Amino acid sequence: MKGPLAAIVLCAGKGTRMKSARAKVLHELLGRPLCFYPLRRALAVGADPVVAVVGHQADEVESAIRAHLPGAPVRFARQREQRGTAHAVLCARAELRHFAGEVLVVYGDVPLLTEATLKALFKVKRALRSPLALVTANLDHPTGYGRVVRQGGRVVRIVEEKDCTAAQRRLTEVNAGLYLADSEFLFKTLERVRGGNAQRELYLTDMVALAVEAGLEVGTTEASFEEVGGVNDRVDLARAAAALGRRINEAHMRAGVTFDAPETAHVDEGVAIRADARIGPGCVLTGATTIGRGAVLGVGCVVHASQIGEAAQIHHYSVLNEAKVGKGAQIGPFARLRPGTDLAEGVHLGNFVETKKARIGKGSKANHLTYLGDCEVGAGVNVGAGTITCNYDGVQKHKTVIGDRVFVGSDTQFIAPITIGESAYIAAGSTITEDVPPYSLAIARGRQVTKKDYVKRRAKAP
Ligand code: UD1
Ligand code: CA
Repeated sequence: MKGPLAAIVLCAGKGTRMKSARAKVLHELLGRPLCFYPLRRALAVGADPVVAVVGHQADEVESAIRAHLPGAPVRFARQREQRGTAHAVLCARAELRHFAGEVLVVYGDVPLLTEATLKALFKVKRALRSPLALVTANLDHPTGYGRVVRQGGRVVRIVEEKDCTAAQRRLTEVNAGLYLADSEFLFKTLERVRGGNAQRELYLTDMVALAVEAGLEVGTTEASFEEVGGVNDRVDLARAAAALGRRINEAHMRAGVTFDAPETAHVDEGVAIRADARIGPGCVLTGATTIGRGAVLGVGCVVHASQIGEAAQIHHYSVLNEAKVGKGAQIGPFARLRPGTDLAEGVHLGNFVETKKARIGKGSKANHLTYLGDCEVGAGVNVGAGTITCNYDGVQKHKTVIGDRVFVGSDTQFIAPITIGESAYIAAGSTITEDVPPYSLAIARGRQVTKKDYVKRRAKAP
């Protein structure tokens, strides 16, 4: 039987090796801050509460965590001075004063942990009836990690790279930075950690030697480098993003989504894609985006925080931001849908069409070179090439309202605010400055003047 479980996630460090003005754990990975991933993993195995230890840019880190994990049982502890990982865990003690059970300790810079590894950790700790178990990894290039020192097969201590002897530096088994400990053992042992090391820090890893000295056996389980590799610099960040992106795309594929070139598509954590959708090469899907069943995205579509309806087709190189696209709509190639675009079923928007705060009714079409901003367009409307809603007078934005079944001739300008009644007919080349009643024809262009033989006459002139 599993007893009570809490977690402590260490997010207080600066992350010097990132060479950044922002705290390391705030750097984004597939649309989420780095620390989101270990926090979510701890929550997913049922840890309650989860204590995030924050310090460097504490307010920003705290609000990012709250924003990305709304409603989750996450508490916050402050580590005002970053005196090392043992000190960071001790800072969480007050938040867990009424807690007795097992505590999972995770570093905030390890985003790729899997549930399988956590399960193995629980298992080994229970099998040994030990108060402490940890995850290790065997690395070809262990530089930078704490080395796991064993005697007769048993772990006796962890030595940080900077404190290693030459022989210890050659050890390839490293500490992954993931621990499961009994709460009482954890806090009592950490009180005894001292900082006599190269970095003058209080090392969490010293609890291993203290446990062994007390006659306890420390359990270990091994995981792959991909999973436990910490993010310390931007090269690590890119490597982690690639691995995470691969996992996300594979999960979508297993759920019935086709990717034409999965290694080139960037899909944020949290994007929802229904089965039988197809994602073209080089697509970038970010934010709270949803893609409907059977929808097709061509090459290089960039979609942020948008809802794409069932069987809609977004052709090559279209850019959508906070837009809603109805069922079966046809968009692009080269369309740009900006915030507030809301397209009903079967709308067609073609190349070089830009929309913003535009509600467009069922089956309406604007197939070429058009700007529709601050407008309401009815159903069955045909918008000719080169049409522009002139929504801005230099001071304010104004609205254009176009009724159902209106025909808009090519190269029309609507000087907003303006209303066009249903089934009206706008002649090509018109600059419409006055409302047009339903079923009317409006022509607003200079009358054509044709001067016969003008060119011949001019040629003869002296
Ligand atoms: C740590 C381990 C090392 C392990 C490696 C795995 C220690 C002493 N070393 O080294 O054995 O191989 O992780 O990735 O634990 N943090 C705080 N407060 C602090 C210091 C750090 O909250 O005072 C947080 C950081 O924000 C970070 C995490 O703890 O998320 C780990 O700190 P970091 O400095 O990256 O440790 P490593 O040197 O990588
Ligand atoms: Ca690290």
